[in-house]
Amino acid sequence: MTYLLICLLGLIFITFLCFCLYIKYIHLKYDHIPGPPRDSFVFGHLTTIQREMSNDRIVHDKFLECAVKKKHYPISPFKPNGHFSLSPQEVLMSPKYPKAPLVYKRLFNLFGQRFLGSGLVTAQNHDEWYKQRRIMDPAFSSLYLRGQMGAFNERAEKLMDKLADMADTNTAANMQHMFDCVTLDVITKVAFGVELDLLKESDSPFPNAIVMCLKGVIHYLRDFTFQLYPKNKKFINEVKKSCQLLRSTGRQWINERKMAVQNGEDVPKDILTQILKTAGKEENIANDDEELMLDNFVTFFIAGQESTANQLAFAVMELGRLPDILTKQEVDDVIGMKQEISFDDLGKMTYLSQVLKETLRLYPTAPGTSRFIPNNIVINGIPIPAGVSFVFNSYVCGRLDKFFEDPLKFDPERFHPDAAKPYYCYYPFSLGPRSCLGQSFAQVSRLLLLDFCLQYILFFNS
Ligand code: HEM
Repeated sequence: MTYLLICLLGLIFITFLCFCLYIKYIHLKYDHIPGPPRDSFVFGHLTTIQREMSNDRIVHDKFLECAVKKKHYPISPFKPNGHFSLSPQEVLMSPKYPKAPLVYKRLFNLFGQRFLGSGLVTAQNHDEWYKQRRIMDPAFSSLYLRGQMGAFNERAEKLMDKLADMADTNTAANMQHMFDCVTLDVITKVAFGVELDLLKESDSPFPNAIVMCLKGVIHYLRDFTFQLYPKNKKFINEVKKSCQLLRSTGRQWINERKMAVQNGEDVPKDILTQILKTAGKEENIANDDEELMLDNFVTFFIAGQESTANQLAFAVMELGRLPDILTKQEVDDVIGMKQEISFDDLGKMTYLSQVLKETLRLYPTAPGTSRFIPNNIVINGIPIPAGVSFVFNSYVCGRLDKFFEDPLKFDPERFHPDAAKPYYCYYPFSLGPRSCLGQSFAQVSRLLLLDFCLQYILFFNS
C-alpha cells in the first residue's frame, strides 16, 4: 500500500514537472515578443483580464493603455495563450490564415450547448465556409435589399410611433432598449419573414436571450476557469437556456417555411426562402442539414442584431452631446416631407454615413477578429513562431493617435469623402474574404433608423 502511494505521488510529481517544463517551453518560445510582465507563471495575463472584467471595466481599454503607454504597438501586449495583435493587411486579406480555433472553434458550443456551430462566422475550413458564403451572398445583395425597403421603413415608422407615444405621456425612452427591439424586428422580418413587434410585446424572451448569449460568450472566451466556479452555475444555465431558445425558434421557423415551400404556398421572397432554395440546389449540402441551418440562424441574430443596435445607441449618444451636428441640413434636404425613404435616398446621406463611420471608429461594436498563423513569420523584425493566434483589435486601432489625430474626439469630418482614407487602421466590419456579410444590410437599417430618429429630434427641437 505504502509502495503504491509512493508510486502515485511520484507520478503526480513527474506530471506536474512535465507540465511546468511545458509552460516554461511556451514562455521561452514567446518571451522575445515585447509585452507587459506576466501575471502568473501558469495563467499568463489571464488575471489582468479577469480583474478588468470583475471591475466592470472595458478590457479593450487595458490593451489600449498598453499599446499607448508601453509602446508595444504594432505587436501588442497580451499573451493569454500566446495572443498578439498587429497591423492587419497581410493576414486578414489572405485566405491562407484561417480563423483562430481558440476563439471560433470554441464557439461551436457555448457551455456545452451547440451555439454557432459551423455557421458563417465560425466555419474554420475555407472550402466549407466558401460554400456557405456563396449560398448566402445573393440574400444580402443590394438588389435584394432594395426590394425590402418597405419592410425597413415600416419598422422605422413603428419606432417613431412608439417614441411619439412616449413623448405624449412624458415617458423617458431607453434608446438602447428601443434599438434592441427594432433591430431584432428588422432582422426577423427582413431575413425570416416573421413579425415579432417587440416594441409592443415587451415581455418577449427573445431580446434577453440574445443579450444572455453574448454575455455568456464573453465569459466563456475570456476566462476558461469560469465554468469551474459553482457560483456561476445559475448564470451558465440561463445562457444555455437562451441558446436553446434561439435554436428551437430557428428550428420551428425553418420547418414552417420548408412546409410552406413544399405545399407550394406563396412565401415571402426573404432571406430564409432564398437560403432554403439555394441550399436545395447545392449538391453537397443535404436538404435536411438542419443543424447547419440553425447554426446560421443563430449566427445572423448574434452577428447582426446587437452590433447594429449598439451602434445606433452610441450614435444617438454622441449626437446628443454635439447638438450642432443635428443642425446639418442633410436629413431635411434629402428626405424633406417624404413618407418613405428609398434605397437611393440612403446613398445621398453622406454626412449621416460619416457620423456612423465615426461612431464605429470610437465604439466598434464587434471590436476585432483573430486568425491562426500556421507558419513562422517576421513582423517589424520580430520573429513570430508558427502556431499562434493573432487578435486584431479595431477598438485599439481606432483610438491610437498614431492613426487618428485627437482620437477621443468625435469628429465625423474625418470620414469626409475628400479626407485621406484610413489605411488598414479602420476595420469595424473586418477586412478581406471573412469580412462582414451583413454590412449592406446593416448600412440600410442603421441609416434608415438614425435618419428617422433625427427627423424626430429635429421636429421636436424646432
Ligand atoms: C453595425 C453592424 C455590424 C458590425 C459592426 C459588424 C461587424 C462584423 C465583423 C467585425 C465581422 C467579422 C467577425 C469575425 O471575424 O469574428 C462580421 C462578420 C459577419 N457579420 Fe457582421 N457586423 C454588423 C452587422 C451585421 C448584420 C446586420 C448581419 C446580418 C444580418 C451580419 C452578419 C455577419 C456575418 C454572417 C458575418 C460572418 C461573415 C463570414 O465570415 O463570411 N453582420 N461582422
